[in-house]
Parts: sequence; structure tokens; C-alpha cells
Amino acid sequence: MYPLNVVLVGIGENLLPHVRRELANHSANLECEYRTVPGALDGLRACKADMRLFIHHVRQPEDVEELRRLNGGFVGRPILALVEAGKETRTLLAANRAGASQIVPLPFQSDDFRDALNCLGLQFGYPATEKRVIAVSGTTGGCGATTLAINLAYEIAFRHNLHCILGELALQMGVLATYLDREPKITIHDLLSSSSRLDVYMVQQALINVAQNFDILAGPHMAIAPLSVSAAEVIHLVDLAKALADVVVLDVPCTYNDLYFEILVSADHVVLVGEQKVPSIRALKLVRDTLGSEHATMQRVVINRYDGRVEGFTTDDLEKLLGARGQTVANDYVSVNAAVNHGRPLRLEAPQSAVLNGIDALVDSVLGVADHKGCAPGASGGFFGRLAHAFRAK
Ligand SMILES: Nc1ncnc2c1ncn2[C@@H]1O[C@H](COP(=O)(O)OP(=O)(O)OP(=O)(O)O)[C@@H](O)[C@H]1O
Ligand SMILES: [Mg+2]
Repeated sequence: MYPLNVVLVGIGENLLPHVRRELANHSANLECEYRTVPGALDGLRACKADMRLFIHHVRQPEDVEELRRLNGGFVGRPILALVEAGKETRTLLAANRAGASQIVPLPFQSDDFRDALNCLGLQFGYPATEKRVIAVSGTTGGCGATTLAINLAYEIAFRHNLHCILGELALQMGVLATYLDREPKITIHDLLSSSSRLDVYMVQQALINVAQNFDILAGPHMAIAPLSVSAAEVIHLVDLAKALADVVVLDVPCTYNDLYFEILVSADHVVLVGEQKVPSIRALKLVRDTLGSEHATMQRVVINRYDGRVEGFTTDDLEKLLGARGQTVANDYVSVNAAVNHGRPLRLEAPQSAVLNGIDALVDSVLGVADHKGCAPGASGGFFGRLAHAFRAK
């Protein structure tokens, strides 16, 4: 979904079908169309301050004055100017001086128009503040980290109406695409392989939409040679994903190497997943000790497939061992398995599953807590403001 509403102003009849088609390809919401700039100023008077993209057609040099009026009437709002300039580059420059944020010379070329749209979407469509990165990591293989990461991300998107990207940081072989029945064309492996050239457009191209507000960046679909990357390269990729979403959830495989710990420490919140088994609890303790007490507030311990009857491994017992009270997620083999087999998040497969209660409590705890970087819940109008609104609305 294109992040800005679009208003067309003075687009000629010949051009209209091309523009409309490209906007439809971008799933952009075409808010309204006006034949003239005064018409737009008049029609949008009541909601002048809303952020939206204007597309204006400059057919002749005299139209540049209209463009200037449009810019003056909607200060701070982006304008894409479609300019009939022929060989006359002065008109292009004049359109720029009159306030066009992007200029697309005519005759119309889809690629150029698309690039201009994407650029404006990134510049104006995504608020740059208050993004969150949540790293989810199992502490021993198979304890359910990927399952929790998928459903955590989906619940954030679905219940809190926040755009969420789930990135699978598997460098050799991923399962995310299989779990969600998708065929990735570009994987995280491809993005990290070209990390010196990596930009936000490349990340955008690699996103696979799973549901409204929920996109994934899948790990390599088939087993391939492992990639050697630095933490800085991975963190750069995460930063680019952050530009495109409200929340980024990372599925981080437990490798216990420097890269692993550096990724965890760079996140805003870390969800450590374990199960009621000695090796898993030992590994949980090791990871917590290595992360150190200064990162304690950003951590959540989750015991997956929890069974309160397992002697010596109740939440009270584990609290004594780990120095932190773990949250629990129920064991529901039938529902979780069905969700994987049908390639969809649990909410869409088995909304009554008890697993979702644990995941939703985790989401609330992660998103609702005071931020370890110093921002209290509800303290701002943006991210936490929207969360507070979402909680009130329930
Ligand atoms: N709460 C649960 N109830 C029942 N089954 C679950 C639950 N969580 C995960 N599973 C199942 O456990 C298996 C392992 O889950 P998953 O792949 O998410 O683990 P992982 O920690 O990501 O594994 P890996 O170490 O391979 O990355 C899967 O078959 C999954 O369906
Ligand atoms: Mg996994």
C-alpha cells in the first residue's frame, strides 16, 4: 500500500490513464482529482493540513505559476510535477523552483514515474521517529522462536494496526517463507550479499506481503553457502527496514557468536525463547549473563509450550534460576501445526488457540513497557500514542 493519499491536479486527458494505472499498481489511494489549482485549493480547504501527495501536470511554461500557487497553498506537502518540457530544460528548472519535489519529464515513462513516486513515499510517507526493533531468539534449536516471531509480528500488525516487518536473519537456510507458504524472489541473503550498494529501495523490493500491515524479509529459501557478514552490515539492513515500518521483528538464530550478541544488543527489545528442559534453561541463563544486567530491562524471557505440571520447571522455579519471571506460551500442537501446514499466522488459522493469549500478553508487555532508551508509554503522540489509543479502543 502506497503510504500517501494522492490528489491529481490538472492532469490532461491523454495522461490520466497512465497516471491512474501506475497509482493502481502501487495500491495508492487516489483521494480526488481536480481540473485546476484553484479547484484543489477550494476543495481541500477543510483538510488542508493533511499529508498527501499532489501530482500536477505542467503542460506549458505558463503552468509553472499554477504549480507555485499549489505549493504555496499546501506548504510542506510533496508535489510530483509531470512536465512537458521538450528540449526546453528551463521549464524543468522553473518547475523545481516553483516547488516541485520530483519532476517527471514527458512523454510519460512508467519507470521514471515509479521511481519518483517511491522516492516521495519514502521521504514523506513514513514517520522517521519512534520505530522499534524486537529481536526474537530461541536459546536452543527447535524451541519455537520462529513460530513466536511470526505470530508476534502478525499480532502487532493486526491488533495494534502498526506496520510490521518480520526479518529472518538466517544466513544459510531459512524457513520463514515455507512457514508462510511464500516464494521469495529476493532474500535477506541477496540483500546482505550486496550490502555495499544496499538501499531502502532494494529492501522494499524484497518485502513479501503476508497480510495487511504485515510484510516479511525471508531468509534463503534453499540451503546455500553461508554468508560472512559483519554486525554493522546486518544493523544497516535493519535500519533500512525500520524506515519502511513501525516495528521490525527479527528472527535471530541462536549461534552464540559475536554477531549474534551484537544483533541482540542493537535491538530495542529482546525476546529470549526457551522451553522446560535443562539444556534450554542453561542456554537461557548463559545468554542473559552474556548480555549483562545493563540490558536486562530490554529482555523478555518466554517459556514456550509451557506446562505448569512439569516438576522443577514452573515459572516460580525458573524465576529463581534465571533471575527473571518468564512469560509463558501454551502448547497447542494441533493449531500451531495446522497454521504451518496452511502457511498462515495462527490468528487466521485458529483464533481460539491458547497460544495467542501468551503471544498477545508478550506483545502488550514489549510494546507497553517503558522504553529502555528513556521513552515512557503514552509520552508521545506517535507510536506510543497510537498504542495507547489502540488499548483504549479495545
Ligand atoms: N506453542 C507451541 N505449541 C505447539 N507446537 C509448537 C509451539 N511452538 C512451536 N511449535 C512447533 O515446534 C516446532 C519448532 O518450532 P520453530 O521452528 O518455531 O522453532 P525454532 O526455535 O525457530 O527452531 P530452529 O532452531 O530450527 O530455528 C515446529 O514444528 C512448531 O510448529
Ligand atoms: Mg527458527
